Amino acid sequence: MSHVLSAVAWPYANGPRHLGHVAGFGVPSDVFSRYMRMAGHDVLMVSGTDEHGTPILVAADERGMTARELADLNNRMIVQDLVDLGVSYDLFTRTTTANHYAVVQQMFLAVHAGGYMIEQTTPAAVSPSTGRTLPDRYIEGTCPICGYAEARGDQCDNCGNQLDPTDLGDPHSKISGETPEFVQTQHFFLDLPALADALGEWLDDREASGLWRPNVIRFSQNILEEIKPRAMSRDIDWGIPIPLDGWREEPTKRLYVWFDAVIGYLSASIEWARRRGEPDRWRDWWNNPDALSYYFMGKDNITFHSQIWPAELLAHNGGGARGGPVGPFGELSLPTEVVSSEFLTMEGRQFSSSRGVVIYVHDVLERYQVDALRYFLCAAAPENSDSDFSWPDFVKRTNNELVAGWGNLVNRTASMIAKNVGTVPEAGALEPVDTELLDHIGQGFEDVGSMMAAHRQRAALAAVMRLVGEANAYVSATEPFKLKGEDQRERLHTVLHVLAQAVVDLNTMLSPFLPHSSNAVHTALGGEGVFMPMPHLEEVGDLDEPGRPTYPIITGDYSTMPAWAHRPVVVGAPVGKPTPIFAKLDPSVATEERARLGLVAETV
Ligand code: MF3
Ligand code: ZN
Repeated sequence: MSHVLSAVAWPYANGPRHLGHVAGFGVPSDVFSRYMRMAGHDVLMVSGTDEHGTPILVAADERGMTARELADLNNRMIVQDLVDLGVSYDLFTRTTTANHYAVVQQMFLAVHAGGYMIEQTTPAAVSPSTGRTLPDRYIEGTCPICGYAEARGDQCDNCGNQLDPTDLGDPHSKISGETPEFVQTQHFFLDLPALADALGEWLDDREASGLWRPNVIRFSQNILEEIKPRAMSRDIDWGIPIPLDGWREEPTKRLYVWFDAVIGYLSASIEWARRRGEPDRWRDWWNNPDALSYYFMGKDNITFHSQIWPAELLAHNGGGARGGPVGPFGELSLPTEVVSSEFLTMEGRQFSSSRGVVIYVHDVLERYQVDALRYFLCAAAPENSDSDFSWPDFVKRTNNELVAGWGNLVNRTASMIAKNVGTVPEAGALEPVDTELLDHIGQGFEDVGSMMAAHRQRAALAAVMRLVGEANAYVSATEPFKLKGEDQRERLHTVLHVLAQAVVDLNTMLSPFLPHSSNAVHTALGGEGVFMPMPHLEEVGDLDEPGRPTYPIITGDYSTMPAWAHRPVVVGAPVGKPTPIFAKLDPSVATEERARLGLVAETV
């Protein structure tokens, strides 16, 4: 049993979540966390909305709102999307809590005290007509990396690279069109070169573990070669103030959003512990060298999780070339594994909310079953290469795999038992065909479990679905529907018992992927109570500033999570006529949905 931290990338509160987002961080982190809890580990799963920085300000500007108003609105929307998906966070919070501000500022001071936050002069853009600082997001120009003409002063939306205003070709003010003047100003830089050796050692050690996906470790090692100090303060008026005299009061200087967001993993763990009334509990995951930590994200986030965040942790621990004291949080653990996924595309194109190439989670959940979506996202997960969501594929996988495979097995097992017995029957002597199926499924716990622990969820799900196929083939081979005579009654009961057992165990293995329907399957086979605990939304006040408006968090009690193990069926448990668990989709669904997206109808 280990302490396991599931650290899930914090979604920007700039709009609702689309399928590309949840395929990368949401569903895989939930499948993993559920599996690890079932395997007996003490999992702490945390995240929240990422509410500072340019993306939020730009979105707020466009809608004529303040950043805080927009963040409040989108935080609620995102929380709802993630609860509806069933993502089992212990705490999903936000970066605008007083607790987060305090933890971030303490972290900054610790890094600063260790000598790893250096003040440097850099050119800042000023509007020549007003003489005022132009925030990064109001400077546009040509991206030096991809040539995109409308790159912003802090990042290029086309290639996703982080930029500085001076990197841009032909910089101009988005407000007035004028060319900014660059004047010298002070900013704080994280002294990454002083942390490079320690980062390199950590990465070598991680490579030796053999755990990381090859492209993630390679990318992380490559970026180490061009390491240079990076600005951790920005010319922006929405963010966490820099907690030093002379800086705190500066209205347009704030901590860089990425400096603050990654600290969310720690601040959310602390908030979780405080809300439980055990304010030091977070230390079991953070100050414990035996604890394991897994960070889930899309590939555009790797730099921040395999370089910036470990660098902040090392600096806090006094673990770089400058040495230094251990900071106020005690010796903090570096990531065990950065689990980054590739991208999900939509009908062959990159998701983009701004270009309207988008399918929102809430739209899908309004029209289709949540576990049908989860099934698709797991079966076609962008684990090691980009993968595509298309409506024809969604209809095919739902109908051929979920409905005709798993749903059919559950449904015919329950209906045959209901019709012939009414309760889970006792088995007579087992024949080789029976033991073969049960043995294969029994072995599945180990085989599938080791793939789950290694983040090979696609292969894990495929392996369970092969066992589902075997169980369906068992029905064809044993033909229970033909066992009608009185003298065949014992054999009929045995086959139905074996099938019930198969369904119960396969349901356990599928439950991290399909938690909602696992509860329905459990009930259909006469199980009592809730099988898979689900997260829920709770409206809470700020821990430190009770006067503030309340906000929704996601939390849950997952202590009753079933074990990842064979569980004998309960003979005599009542089994009634089942209602189908998964809905078959009409092929016209694909045509309609493609039309909604403005795509020309194609044959499915
Ligand atoms: N908000 C970022 C994104 O959506 C992810 C931040 S992860 C964090 O890409 F850990 F830094 F919060
Ligand atoms: Zn670019």
